[in-house]
Amino acid sequence: MTVRIDSQRLYLRELEEADVSAAYLEWMRDPAVTQYLEARFEEHNDKSLRAYVAAQRADPSSLLLAIVLREGDRHIGNIKLGPIDRHHLTADVGILIGDRTAWGRGYGTEAIGALCPYAFAELGLRKLTAGSYAANVGSIRAFEKAGFRREAVQQGQFVCDGRRVDAVLLGRCASN
Ligand SMILES: CC(C)(COP(=O)(O)OP(=O)(O)OC[C@H]1O[C@@H](n2cnc3c(N)ncnc32)[C@H](O)[C@@H]1OP(=O)(O)O)[C@@H](O)C(=O)NCCC(=O)NCCS
Repeated sequence: MTVRIDSQRLYLRELEEADVSAAYLEWMRDPAVTQYLEARFEEHNDKSLRAYVAAQRADPSSLLLAIVLREGDRHIGNIKLGPIDRHHLTADVGILIGDRTAWGRGYGTEAIGALCPYAFAELGLRKLTAGSYAANVGSIRAFEKAGFRREAVQQGQFVCDGRRVDAVLLGRCASN
């Protein structure tokens, strides 16, 4: 199955090992990009990123997609659906816009907003969830603008820069 999801300015397609570029590696090594991601605890290189992409592609409970700007066909980040739970028909959504020049232009909101109808209509999922560090205001806002609602706060769930940070859990149901 080949996945392609189109939106106004973007399209989403399956991420391939060939997408592991110098730019992608730079995103994963940029502390501003990984500030609120668990990926900041790992070291990244070309080989580890390729292995990650290959593992995601082989995992039937995961769908890792490239976020591509239609204009210039530029890969600006990734969005992931997974783990997908086939019993409860739920999945978690994670997003990374690695190209910092693309931040604040609505692409995060647009990518999440494009993935949701695909997950509900094509994959038959009932509910999507997302988790964010409370300090990651842009992420929470992007999910909310894409129809997610705050469902819970986990007090002091993470340690970020030596401080305890809350986790915000969000969800969007197919019937939203
Ligand atoms: C979080 C992220 C996905 C947001 O994507 P984006 O394309 O920059 O977000 P959008 O442009 O769609 O913005 C959505 C809303 O958040 C606001 N916003 C974005 N970044 C913000 C920031 N750093 N601080 C405050 N508000 C912010 C925008 O203004 C917009 O709200 P508005 O329309 O009311 O003005 C992106 O910054 C990113 O990938 N960051 C690094 C990885 C990461 O943290 N991923 C999320 C893990 S849960």
